[in-house]
Amino acid sequence: MEHELDKQRTQEFARKLFGFYTSGVLTLMVDIGHTTGLFEAAAKGRGGSQEIAARAGLDERYVREWLCALAAGGVFEYDAASRTFSLPPEHAVCLTGTSSRNLAASSQGLPMLAARLPRIVECFRNGGGVPYSEYRPDFTEFMDASWRLLYDGLLIKGFLPAVKGLPERLEKGIRVADLGCGTGHAINLMARHYPNSAFVGYDLGDDAIVRARAEAREMGLPNARFEVFDVTRLPAEPKFDLITSFDAIHDQRDPATVLRRAAGALGPDGVYLMIEPKASSNLEDNIGKPFTPYMYGVSVLHCMTVSLAEGGAGLGTAWGVETARRMLGEAGFTSVEVVDAPGPQNSIYVCRLGAR
Ligand SMILES: C[S@@+](CC[C@H](N)C(=O)[O-])C[C@H]1O[C@@H](n2cnc3c(N)ncnc32)[C@H](O)[C@@H]1O
Repeated sequence: MEHELDKQRTQEFARKLFGFYTSGVLTLMVDIGHTTGLFEAAAKGRGGSQEIAARAGLDERYVREWLCALAAGGVFEYDAASRTFSLPPEHAVCLTGTSSRNLAASSQGLPMLAARLPRIVECFRNGGGVPYSEYRPDFTEFMDASWRLLYDGLLIKGFLPAVKGLPERLEKGIRVADLGCGTGHAINLMARHYPNSAFVGYDLGDDAIVRARAEAREMGLPNARFEVFDVTRLPAEPKFDLITSFDAIHDQRDPATVLRRAAGALGPDGVYLMIEPKASSNLEDNIGKPFTPYMYGVSVLHCMTVSLAEGGAGLGTAWGVETARRMLGEAGFTSVEVVDAPGPQNSIYVCRLGAR
């Protein structure tokens, strides 16, 4: 009853709730800025709405309203006297350019996921899931856009050196497979950097594999190939010296089988590098952490749901380190080292087999 409520607590929560809606709307504003090139135009220097619209070749009235939203939201600084907007350099680096700090493309996730809401609500009522095929092709584009710059900036210099001696082995020449490779940018970058090694990327998404092959052709890479292939069927031969998976285990239909198959396909001294969201398997340890609400939410909107669509395990995005360690152990990995990935959201699991 109303008189029993703590008024201040109610008000604070109402404000927090409206903050959720504001963040969602601002995410869509970021998506518009990214899609239209407005951030790049605004980053050229302080300007009024007319000038920024002209730089981007866009309609001034829309641009002005967009600028107002993002100035009110703390993205742009506004000078009332000159009616001009500026993008601080610290903000510009997160919204423009080719560095791994540019996060603008990740804003595509919200509209992509929201477009599937009616289907997801049906699953709340009837169970089941929404298959991967219903998320394509915009899911493929979103994944590529979200990870591409990260791979460009950090794969060779940040992820691979997490395993001592791995860059040297790649330089000499080893066999590498990437499970759930998406559009294959990680494989293509590694293949370019390490011409003595042989690379293969596997994914179920034929739209993703078409893009991966096209990029390998453009980059002139004789040592990278891609196959539309279900990695739950990865054979024990041929063996690989390095198997990787980037964000591609938790949404599997049958992750236990994929991990077992990965272990079975590793040669002597082989390493499996599993990159997965950084979380605990225990909700109580995730509460209050900055990225975990996003993980659980994206899980409902995609990762758990695509797995359940196939009658799968539905591990969820925040399956976490405890479950991952247990499952890797059950798959046959006797040594699992967990290290922070570059960037705060992911962990790198460095997995090895003992004597077999
Ligand atoms: C979250 S995405 C990550 C894609 C990619 N690693 C990246 O970083 O952009 C997971 C990928 O795993 C693929 N996938 C899921 N189950 C698979 C399976 N059983 N065999 C092969 N690929 C699978 C999906 O098609 C999707 O491209």
